[in-house]
Amino acid sequence: MVVKAVIPAAGYGTRNLPVSKAVPKEMFPICGKPALHYIVDEAVAAGIREILIVVSRGKNAILDYFDRAPELEQHLQAQGKSDVAEQLAMPDVHIQYVRQPEALGLGMALKLAQPFVGQDPFALLLPDDLLTDNAVTLKRMIRAFKVYRRPVIGIKTVEDETLLRNYGVIRGTPITTGMTRIEEIVEKPVDKPPSNMAVIGRYVLPAEIFAFIHKDKRGAGGEIQLTDALQEWLETAELYGMNIKSPSYDISKMEDYLALQNYYLNREGGIR
Ligand code: UTP
Repeated sequence: MVVKAVIPAAGYGTRNLPVSKAVPKEMFPICGKPALHYIVDEAVAAGIREILIVVSRGKNAILDYFDRAPELEQHLQAQGKSDVAEQLAMPDVHIQYVRQPEALGLGMALKLAQPFVGQDPFALLLPDDLLTDNAVTLKRMIRAFKVYRRPVIGIKTVEDETLLRNYGVIRGTPITTGMTRIEEIVEKPVDKPPSNMAVIGRYVLPAEIFAFIHKDKRGAGGEIQLTDALQEWLETAELYGMNIKSPSYDISKMEDYLALQNYYLNREGGIR
C-alpha cells in the first residue's frame, strides 16, 4: 500500500519573481484554488492518507491555508453564509510539515522527508506540475509500483528538443504499453539529450532511495538532484518510467499557467 506522499514546496521560485517573493508559487491561484490544493486532492484521490509538505521561510501561507479558520467559520455562520463556509473545507488527509533551511535542491528537500517516510514506499508530487486527469496517472503509477517494487517515475515526450535542457531526460526501452525500462537519466542535459522523453513531477519511490541521495554531491545547477540519486540507483536495480497521458501544466511557465486557468474555466460543469 502506498499511503504516504511528500510534496516539496521549499524552492525559491526564481522564475516567478517578483510575485514569488511574497506568494509561494505553490499557492498561485487556479480559478480561486491554490495549485497545492489540487495536488493534495490528487494525492487523496489516489489513496494517500499521510502527507508531508516541505516548506521554508516565507511559505507560511501554505500552513495557514490547510489549517482551520474557526473565526472565519463562525463569522460566515453568523451571517447565514453556510454555503460560503463550505468552501473552507480542506481535503480529508493528515498533513505535516518540515522546513528546509536552504533551497539546496529537490534531492535535499526529499532527504528531509526520510523520518516521515520510514521504511514505507511513498509518492512524490511536485506541486508546480499539475495534471488534469483526476489522479488517473498517480493511481496507475502506484499500481505499477506494486507490481515492479522499483521506482516508477512519470515521463512524457517533449516535442521541442530545445526545451529538453529544462528537464530531467531519460533513455530507455519500452516494455509494455506505457511502461519504459529506464537505462539512463540525466538532469537538464546541456546538449545531446539522451532522448525526447522528459521527467514530469510524479514519482512513486521505495524508501531505499534515500541511500542514494548524498548531501555532499552537487549536480546540475549546483543543487542536490533527485535525478542523480536515480541514476546511481540504476547501477544496482531497475527503474521504470510511466508515460503520462494526461495534459500537464508547469505553472512556473506563464503560458502553462494561463492555459490551466482556461482549462478549468471552460471545462464542462465549470469551476468546482
Ligand atoms: P523547481 O525547480 O521547479 O522550483 O522545483 P523552484 O526551485 O522553486 O523554482 P525556480 O527553478 O527557482 O524557478 C520543483 C519543486 O521542488 C521544490 C520547489 O518548491 C518546487 O515545488 N523544491 C525545489 C524544494 O522544495 N526545495 C529545493 O531545494 C528545490
